[in-house]
Amino acid sequence: MKKPIARLITFCISLITLSASASTFEKDWHTYANYQDVVTTHIHLRLNVDFETKQLKGSIEHQLKYLNTTTDSLILDTRDLDIHKAETFDGNNWSNTTFKLAKRDAVKGSKLMIALPKGTEKVRIHYNSRPEASGLQWLDPIQTAGKKHPFMFSQSQAIHARSWMPIQDTPAMRVSYSADIQTIATLRPIMSAKNNPQWNKKGLYHFEMPQPIPTYLIAIAAGNIHYKKMSKQTAVYAEPSLLDAAAKEFEDTQAMIDATEKLYGKYRWTDYDLLILPPSFPFGGMENPRLSFITPTVIAGDKSLVSLIAHELAHSWSGNLVTNATWRDLWLNEGFTSYVENRIMEAVYGKDRAVMEQALAAQDLNKELVELPKDDTILHITIEGRDPDDAFSSVPYTKGQLFLMYLEQQFGRKNFDIFLRRYFDDHAFQSIDTKNFVNYLKSNLLEKHPGKVTMEQVNRWITQPLLPSFAPKPSSDVFKLVQENMNAWFSNDLKLKNIPTNQWTVHEWLYFINNLPQDISLSKLEELDNQFKLTQSTNNEIAHAWLLLNIKRNNSAVNTRLADYMISIGRRKLIVPLYKALLQDPKRLAFTKAIYNKARPGYHPLAQGTIDALFEKGKNVE
Ligand code: BES
Ligand code: ZN
Repeated sequence: MKKPIARLITFCISLITLSASASTFEKDWHTYANYQDVVTTHIHLRLNVDFETKQLKGSIEHQLKYLNTTTDSLILDTRDLDIHKAETFDGNNWSNTTFKLAKRDAVKGSKLMIALPKGTEKVRIHYNSRPEASGLQWLDPIQTAGKKHPFMFSQSQAIHARSWMPIQDTPAMRVSYSADIQTIATLRPIMSAKNNPQWNKKGLYHFEMPQPIPTYLIAIAAGNIHYKKMSKQTAVYAEPSLLDAAAKEFEDTQAMIDATEKLYGKYRWTDYDLLILPPSFPFGGMENPRLSFITPTVIAGDKSLVSLIAHELAHSWSGNLVTNATWRDLWLNEGFTSYVENRIMEAVYGKDRAVMEQALAAQDLNKELVELPKDDTILHITIEGRDPDDAFSSVPYTKGQLFLMYLEQQFGRKNFDIFLRRYFDDHAFQSIDTKNFVNYLKSNLLEKHPGKVTMEQVNRWITQPLLPSFAPKPSSDVFKLVQENMNAWFSNDLKLKNIPTNQWTVHEWLYFINNLPQDISLSKLEELDNQFKLTQSTNNEIAHAWLLLNIKRNNSAVNTRLADYMISIGRRKLIVPLYKALLQDPKRLAFTKAIYNKARPGYHPLAQGTIDALFEKGKNVE
């Protein structure tokens, strides 16, 4: 038994290390929260999903932990919320307390200050979100697969959770959460938490997320959502008409989990389900824990686009278990995840496919590097004063991935696998920023295997623009053959119909289309389309690549399909490049505007924002 004084000293040391671990992070610029003084440890939501008014209405309860005992206010992030009442709980009673909502900042939203009388253990806030909440989309029945019921979903990353909950909205801190969600009985809500897949007659559902997560991973959706189990740990939630196709397309999800566990240790979130959203979902996927949100545009019928599932699943380690501490460190989430995604693809579908996917991603990155402002090509990007959405690019993804591939090459796969697995274990359920990662890398990899990589090389990757000269250059033998066939066609040594495209995978098609000469003639485009019916391709990635090339060549033969595509899909990655390319040509402004006028009401607020800005920029140039 320790003496009381020794116990006191140990206690003080543990306090110091506890607060040190939070405060050694760089301050998150994108939050107003006073999380150095007081933190929420658990959230309880009681919300009504009101489709009539397009509002979430109810209350949120914060369970508090004090890091500084003199703290007398709780500062939360909000954006466009109506706050009705705040109450505090002292262990016995609830009483009203005062609060103040500050003026709205264009990036961060409105700071909410709540007075904390001494001894406050919990805070409860009564509020509602507004129809224009940046983190929610409310869909009319016509925008869904079934066309009969409305649908709503959240997209909280990066700083949109504050538009539907008053919270400490920073990835530096973690909360567990629970929720009671009410909706009309003909619909069902679902959250990124443990939930009962059965419908109930009252429309009242309970959710529990026992593991601590950053707030950007709190997610909600509601609609005519049904359930189909795929394997012991996996299931799909979707509108009825999509359920079977989705379950077939994503049937390898369990094999992906098994492969990742072998590489990086146990899956720590019990079940892994997929929620298939309507096509206006602005991303490919979102890694909400236990329940990734997935665009329907990847249900291709041939599993050709399932690397998206590998990606969202990989976040269960990189991102959800070990989390970027600020949005400057996004590459720690997305770069690691792109690397892990590719390792999963290799394990489940083989090396050829994994390398093809690396090569396509590297080509996309190289094209983007030419266009981006130089500072935005730095992994440890500066985004103070900016909305993280505006700095979004493939840099944190693919440059981050290439950096990890480089480390793997230099240290050998075996050593690098051991390192990465330990990294996940050592930081499980914690956040980390770039500086702390670099220190960890130095002591756990560089110094353990000296003489392989220098700190200068690491810093070149992390703090400098563009790619280092020594970056890996993924190259696929399968693509070399595609290139040879393409060259032979252009030099008239091979007829189009004699190219062995019957055996081609979607990836080979993508390489082929992306690598056609940018000045290809209209007659060659026509010949290609006659032979391969590319304009009518039902694979959304192939259609995207083909439409983009035709826009650049100003080929109006694809216009009808182009308009259909842009009106029916809201995934930013697939539509934004098409708008950008169309807006290059002032003569097509009326055509582009006509498409956008029709499409805009169906797009998510995020996609609307991005495309509005493109039109604005175009105006300045005129
Ligand atoms: N977490 C991201 C989406 C995200 C990133 C939202 C940053 C907001 C801010 C998700 O995991 C993702 O990366 N989605 C990609 C998937 C692709 C790279 C396979 C997408 O939506 O395209
Ligand atoms: Zn991701």
